[in-house]
Amino acid sequence: MKVLESKKELNEVLKEWKSKNCSIGLVPTMGALHQGHLSLVKRALADNDLVVVTIFINPTQFDNTEDLDKYPSNLKKDVALLLSVSKEVVIFTPSQTEIYDGNVTSKAFNFNGLEKVMEGEFRTGHFDGVATIVELLFKAVEPTRAYFGEKDFQQLQIIQKLVEQSHLDLEIVPCPIEREPNGLARSSRNERLSQSTRKAAGFIHETLLSAKTKFGMENAKNINEWVFQQFHKNPVFELEYFEITDVDTLTPTTKIQKDRKYRAFVAVYAEGIRLIDNIALN
Ligand code: PAJ
Repeated sequence: MKVLESKKELNEVLKEWKSKNCSIGLVPTMGALHQGHLSLVKRALADNDLVVVTIFINPTQFDNTEDLDKYPSNLKKDVALLLSVSKEVVIFTPSQTEIYDGNVTSKAFNFNGLEKVMEGEFRTGHFDGVATIVELLFKAVEPTRAYFGEKDFQQLQIIQKLVEQSHLDLEIVPCPIEREPNGLARSSRNERLSQSTRKAAGFIHETLLSAKTKFGMENAKNINEWVFQQFHKNPVFELEYFEITDVDTLTPTTKIQKDRKYRAFVAVYAEGIRLIDNIALN
Protein backbone atom coordinates (compact mmCIF):
# COMPACT_ATOMS: atom_id res chain seq x y z
CA MET A 1 0.00 0.00 0.00
CA LYS A 2 1.43 3.36 -1.06
CA VAL A 3 0.40 6.61 0.65
CA LEU A 4 1.42 9.53 -1.59
CA GLU A 5 1.14 13.25 -0.96
CA SER A 6 2.59 14.84 -4.10
CA LYS A 7 1.40 14.82 -7.69
CA LYS A 8 5.00 14.12 -8.75
CA GLU A 9 5.18 10.87 -6.74
CA LEU A 10 1.72 9.90 -7.96
CA ASN A 11 2.74 10.54 -11.56
CA GLU A 12 5.78 8.31 -11.24
CA VAL A 13 3.64 5.40 -9.99
CA LEU A 14 0.91 5.96 -12.59
CA LYS A 15 3.39 6.31 -15.46
CA GLU A 16 4.68 2.81 -14.82
CA TRP A 17 1.19 1.26 -14.81
CA LYS A 18 -0.01 3.25 -17.80
CA SER A 19 3.07 2.26 -19.84
CA LYS A 20 1.81 -1.34 -19.50
CA ASN A 21 -1.64 -0.27 -20.73
CA CYS A 22 -3.21 -0.99 -17.34
CA SER A 23 -6.63 0.37 -16.39
CA ILE A 24 -6.83 2.79 -13.47
CA GLY A 25 -9.87 3.12 -11.19
CA LEU A 26 -10.29 6.29 -9.13
CA VAL A 27 -12.31 6.53 -5.92
CA PRO A 28 -12.43 10.14 -4.67
CA THR A 29 -13.22 10.50 -0.95
CA MET A 30 -12.85 12.92 1.93
CA GLY A 31 -11.64 10.16 4.27
CA ALA A 32 -13.33 9.02 7.50
CA LEU A 33 -13.91 5.88 5.48
CA HIS A 34 -16.70 3.42 6.15
CA GLN A 35 -18.34 0.45 4.41
CA GLY A 36 -20.02 2.80 1.92
CA HIS A 37 -16.63 3.98 0.65
CA LEU A 38 -15.26 0.44 0.76
CA SER A 39 -18.05 -0.80 -1.51
CA LEU A 40 -16.79 1.66 -4.16
CA VAL A 41 -13.19 0.53 -3.63
CA LYS A 42 -14.19 -3.15 -3.96
CA ARG A 43 -16.05 -2.44 -7.19
CA ALA A 44 -13.05 -0.47 -8.52
CA LEU A 45 -10.69 -3.32 -7.61
CA ALA A 46 -12.91 -5.78 -9.50
CA ASP A 47 -12.95 -3.59 -12.63
CA ASN A 48 -9.38 -2.24 -12.86
CA ASP A 49 -5.69 -3.21 -12.71
CA LEU A 50 -4.85 -0.41 -10.26
CA VAL A 51 -7.04 1.56 -7.85
CA VAL A 52 -6.26 5.06 -6.57
CA VAL A 53 -8.25 6.22 -3.53
CA THR A 54 -7.96 9.94 -2.88
CA ILE A 55 -8.43 11.27 0.64
CA PHE A 56 -8.81 15.03 0.70
CA ILE A 57 -11.20 17.15 2.78
CA ASN A 58 -12.07 19.71 0.15
CA PRO A 59 -12.59 23.13 1.80
CA THR A 60 -14.24 24.77 -1.22
CA GLN A 61 -17.31 22.53 -1.09
CA PHE A 62 -18.22 23.46 2.50
CA ASP A 63 -20.58 26.41 2.90
CA ASN A 64 -20.40 26.05 6.66
CA THR A 65 -17.02 26.42 8.42
CA GLU A 66 -18.27 24.55 11.50
CA ASP A 67 -19.12 21.54 9.33
CA LEU A 68 -15.63 21.71 7.77
CA ASP A 69 -13.90 22.05 11.17
CA LYS A 70 -15.85 19.10 12.57
CA TYR A 71 -15.28 16.86 9.57
CA PRO A 72 -13.65 13.70 11.01
CA SER A 73 -10.11 12.89 9.89
CA ASN A 74 -8.06 9.81 10.76
CA LEU A 75 -5.61 8.70 8.09
CA LYS A 76 -4.28 5.78 10.15
CA LYS A 77 -7.77 4.33 10.53
CA ASP A 78 -8.50 4.91 6.82
CA VAL A 79 -5.30 3.13 5.78
CA ALA A 80 -6.15 0.17 8.06
CA LEU A 81 -9.64 -0.09 6.54
CA LEU A 82 -8.28 0.02 3.00
CA LEU A 83 -5.68 -2.62 3.91
CA SER A 84 -8.57 -4.87 4.96
CA VAL A 85 -9.76 -4.96 1.33
CA SER A 86 -6.45 -4.80 -0.56
CA LYS A 87 -2.71 -4.29 -0.14
CA GLU A 88 -2.40 -2.88 -3.66
CA VAL A 89 -4.45 0.32 -3.40
CA VAL A 90 -2.61 3.61 -3.93
CA ILE A 91 -3.73 6.36 -1.53
CA PHE A 92 -3.30 9.92 -2.72
CA THR A 93 -3.73 12.43 0.08
CA PRO A 94 -2.47 15.83 -1.08
CA SER A 95 -2.32 19.06 0.90
CA GLN A 96 -4.59 21.94 -0.16
CA THR A 97 -1.64 23.77 -1.77
CA GLU A 98 -0.53 20.66 -3.63
CA ILE A 99 -3.84 19.79 -5.27
CA TYR A 100 -5.00 23.39 -5.82
CA ASP A 101 -1.58 24.63 -6.97
CA GLY A 102 -1.76 27.26 -4.25
CA ASN A 103 -5.08 28.75 -5.38
CA VAL A 104 -7.73 27.25 -3.09
CA THR A 105 -10.86 28.59 -4.81
CA SER A 106 -13.77 27.17 -6.79
CA LYS A 107 -14.36 27.63 -10.49
CA ALA A 108 -17.90 28.63 -11.50
CA PHE A 109 -19.80 25.91 -13.35
CA ASN A 110 -23.10 25.70 -15.19
CA PHE A 111 -24.70 22.27 -15.20
CA ASN A 112 -28.00 23.26 -16.82
CA GLY A 113 -29.75 23.74 -13.48
CA LEU A 114 -28.68 20.41 -11.90
CA GLU A 115 -26.54 22.42 -9.49
CA LYS A 116 -29.33 24.80 -8.44
CA VAL A 117 -31.85 22.46 -6.78
CA MET A 118 -31.83 20.55 -3.47
CA GLU A 119 -28.21 20.38 -2.22
CA GLY A 120 -27.37 23.26 -4.56
CA GLU A 121 -30.18 25.39 -3.19
CA PHE A 122 -29.42 24.74 0.46
CA ARG A 123 -25.59 24.64 0.26
CA THR A 124 -24.50 27.69 -1.69
CA GLY A 125 -21.48 27.07 -3.92
CA HIS A 126 -21.29 23.41 -2.86
CA PHE A 127 -21.26 21.93 -6.37
CA ASP A 128 -18.79 24.49 -7.72
CA GLY A 129 -16.45 23.23 -5.00
CA VAL A 130 -17.17 19.57 -5.76
CA ALA A 131 -16.75 19.96 -9.53
CA THR A 132 -13.55 21.99 -9.06
CA ILE A 133 -11.86 19.34 -6.90
CA VAL A 134 -13.14 16.39 -8.93
CA GLU A 135 -11.82 17.99 -12.13
CA LEU A 136 -8.43 18.52 -10.43
CA LEU A 137 -8.40 14.89 -9.25
CA PHE A 138 -9.32 13.65 -12.74
CA LYS A 139 -6.42 15.72 -14.12
CA ALA A 140 -3.99 14.38 -11.52
CA VAL A 141 -4.93 10.69 -12.02
CA GLU A 142 -6.36 10.49 -15.57
CA PRO A 143 -8.33 7.37 -14.61
CA THR A 144 -10.02 4.87 -16.92
CA ARG A 145 -13.03 4.82 -14.58
CA ALA A 146 -14.14 6.83 -11.54
CA TYR A 147 -16.55 5.58 -8.86
CA PHE A 148 -19.27 7.63 -7.18
CA GLY A 149 -22.01 6.58 -4.75
CA GLU A 150 -25.72 7.01 -5.36
CA LYS A 151 -25.85 8.18 -1.72
CA ASP A 152 -24.93 11.55 -3.26
CA PHE A 153 -27.09 11.09 -6.34
CA GLN A 154 -27.14 14.78 -7.29
CA GLN A 155 -23.34 14.87 -7.09
CA LEU A 156 -23.18 11.78 -9.29
CA GLN A 157 -25.41 13.40 -11.94
CA ILE A 158 -23.33 16.58 -11.85
CA ILE A 159 -20.08 14.66 -12.31
CA GLN A 160 -21.63 12.81 -15.28
CA LYS A 161 -22.52 16.24 -16.72
CA LEU A 162 -18.98 17.53 -16.05
CA VAL A 163 -17.52 14.59 -17.99
CA GLU A 164 -19.97 15.16 -20.86
CA GLN A 165 -19.45 18.95 -21.03
CA SER A 166 -15.65 18.77 -20.79
CA HIS A 167 -15.43 15.74 -23.14
CA LEU A 168 -13.37 13.83 -20.58
CA ASP A 169 -12.23 10.40 -21.62
CA LEU A 170 -13.34 8.30 -18.64
CA GLU A 171 -16.28 6.24 -17.46
CA ILE A 172 -18.29 7.21 -14.38
CA VAL A 173 -19.47 4.14 -12.48
CA PRO A 174 -22.48 4.68 -10.15
CA CYS A 175 -22.50 2.50 -7.00
CA PRO A 176 -25.55 1.63 -4.83
CA ILE A 177 -26.16 3.09 -1.36
CA GLU A 178 -24.72 1.10 1.55
CA ARG A 179 -26.87 1.19 4.68
CA GLU A 180 -26.55 0.47 8.39
CA PRO A 181 -28.69 -2.47 9.62
CA ASN A 182 -31.59 -0.10 10.48
CA GLY A 183 -31.56 1.38 6.95
CA LEU A 184 -29.70 4.62 7.74
CA ALA A 185 -27.46 5.45 4.76
CA ARG A 186 -23.83 5.07 5.82
CA SER A 187 -22.10 8.41 6.23
CA SER A 188 -19.06 9.81 8.01
CA ARG A 189 -21.48 12.16 9.77
CA ASN A 190 -23.35 9.25 11.44
CA GLU A 191 -20.43 8.99 13.90
CA ARG A 192 -21.44 12.37 15.32
CA LEU A 193 -24.99 11.23 16.20
CA SER A 194 -25.84 10.03 19.71
CA GLN A 195 -26.51 6.30 19.93
CA SER A 196 -30.27 6.79 20.39
CA THR A 197 -30.61 9.20 17.45
CA ARG A 198 -28.52 6.96 15.21
CA LYS A 199 -30.89 4.12 16.07
CA ALA A 200 -33.95 6.30 15.50
CA ALA A 201 -32.57 7.52 12.16
CA GLY A 202 -33.79 4.33 10.47
CA PHE A 203 -36.97 6.43 10.24
CA ILE A 204 -35.51 8.39 7.30
CA HIS A 205 -35.15 5.33 5.07
CA GLU A 206 -38.46 3.87 6.32
CA THR A 207 -40.22 7.06 5.25
CA LEU A 208 -38.56 6.90 1.83
CA LEU A 209 -39.67 3.27 1.47
CA SER A 210 -43.25 4.26 2.31
CA ALA A 211 -43.06 7.09 -0.25
CA LYS A 212 -41.94 4.50 -2.81
CA THR A 213 -44.92 2.29 -1.94
CA LYS A 214 -47.25 5.26 -2.35
CA PHE A 215 -45.65 6.21 -5.68
CA GLY A 216 -47.85 5.06 -8.53
CA MET A 217 -50.93 5.01 -6.28
CA GLU A 218 -50.94 8.68 -5.27
CA ASN A 219 -49.81 11.87 -6.95
CA ALA A 220 -46.51 13.56 -6.07
CA LYS A 221 -48.21 16.40 -4.19
CA ASN A 222 -50.00 14.00 -1.83
CA ILE A 223 -46.83 12.03 -1.21
CA ASN A 224 -44.97 15.28 -0.45
CA GLU A 225 -47.63 16.29 2.05
CA TRP A 226 -47.62 12.88 3.67
CA VAL A 227 -43.82 12.93 4.10
CA PHE A 228 -43.89 16.45 5.56
CA GLN A 229 -46.52 15.28 8.09
CA GLN A 230 -44.43 12.27 9.12
CA PHE A 231 -41.42 14.48 9.85
CA HIS A 232 -43.57 17.10 11.54
CA LYS A 233 -44.82 14.43 13.94
CA ASN A 234 -41.28 13.25 14.74
CA PRO A 235 -39.45 15.62 17.12
CA VAL A 236 -35.98 14.07 16.53
CA PHE A 237 -35.70 15.13 12.88
CA GLU A 238 -36.09 18.49 11.21
CA LEU A 239 -36.90 18.16 7.52
CA GLU A 240 -35.01 20.57 5.22
CA TYR A 241 -36.41 19.30 1.95
CA PHE A 242 -38.22 16.36 0.43
CA GLU A 243 -38.49 16.25 -3.37
CA ILE A 244 -39.67 13.80 -5.98
CA THR A 245 -37.73 14.54 -9.16
CA ASP A 246 -37.05 13.25 -12.63
CA VAL A 247 -33.69 11.39 -12.38
CA ASP A 248 -32.15 13.14 -15.37
CA THR A 249 -33.17 16.76 -14.83
CA LEU A 250 -33.59 16.62 -11.02
CA THR A 251 -36.48 19.05 -11.35
CA PRO A 252 -39.34 18.56 -8.90
CA THR A 253 -42.22 16.61 -10.37
CA THR A 254 -45.89 17.30 -10.04
CA LYS A 255 -47.10 15.16 -12.93
CA ILE A 256 -45.72 11.65 -13.24
CA GLN A 257 -45.07 10.43 -16.79
CA LYS A 258 -45.05 6.67 -17.49
CA ASP A 259 -41.84 6.64 -19.56
CA ARG A 260 -39.69 8.66 -17.10
CA LYS A 261 -37.66 7.52 -14.08
CA TYR A 262 -38.14 9.25 -10.73
CA ARG A 263 -36.32 9.45 -7.44
CA ALA A 264 -37.18 10.86 -4.02
CA PHE A 265 -34.60 12.94 -2.13
CA VAL A 266 -34.48 14.04 1.47
CA ALA A 267 -32.28 16.23 3.70
CA VAL A 268 -32.87 16.33 7.45
CA TYR A 269 -31.19 17.68 10.54
CA ALA A 270 -30.77 15.52 13.64
CA GLU A 271 -28.90 16.95 16.65
CA GLY A 272 -27.67 19.70 14.33
CA ILE A 273 -26.15 17.16 11.92
CA ARG A 274 -27.28 17.19 8.34
CA LEU A 275 -28.19 13.83 6.79
CA ILE A 276 -29.20 13.12 3.19
CA ASP A 277 -30.73 10.10 1.52
CA ASN A 278 -32.60 9.15 -1.65
CA ILE A 279 -34.44 6.25 -3.26
CA ALA A 280 -35.39 5.11 -6.75
CA LEU A 281 -39.19 5.21 -7.09
CA ASN A 282 -39.66 3.27 -10.32
P1 PAJ B 1 -17.33 11.48 0.57
O1 PAJ B 1 -18.51 11.99 1.29
O2 PAJ B 1 -16.14 11.01 1.36
O3 PAJ B 1 -17.82 10.30 -0.36
C1 PAJ B 1 -16.94 9.68 -1.25
C2 PAJ B 1 -17.75 8.76 -2.15
O4 PAJ B 1 -18.34 7.73 -1.37
C3 PAJ B 1 -18.90 9.50 -2.86
O5 PAJ B 1 -18.98 9.06 -4.20
C4 PAJ B 1 -20.10 9.08 -2.05
O6 PAJ B 1 -21.32 9.10 -2.78
C5 PAJ B 1 -19.72 7.65 -1.69
N1 PAJ B 1 -20.48 7.20 -0.52
C6 PAJ B 1 -20.57 7.80 0.70
N2 PAJ B 1 -21.43 7.13 1.50
C7 PAJ B 1 -21.90 6.10 0.77
C8 PAJ B 1 -22.85 5.05 1.02
N3 PAJ B 1 -23.48 4.94 2.18
N4 PAJ B 1 -23.10 4.17 0.02
C9 PAJ B 1 -22.47 4.28 -1.19
N5 PAJ B 1 -21.58 5.25 -1.49
C10 PAJ B 1 -21.30 6.14 -0.52
O7 PAJ B 1 -18.55 12.75 -1.84
C11 PAJ B 1 -17.51 13.19 -1.43
O8 PAJ B 1 -16.78 12.60 -0.44
C12 PAJ B 1 -16.88 14.45 -2.00
O9 PAJ B 1 -17.87 15.32 -2.43
C13 PAJ B 1 -15.87 14.16 -3.16
C14 PAJ B 1 -16.56 13.52 -4.36
C15 PAJ B 1 -14.73 13.26 -2.67
C16 PAJ B 1 -15.26 15.49 -3.63
O10 PAJ B 1 -14.62 16.16 -2.59
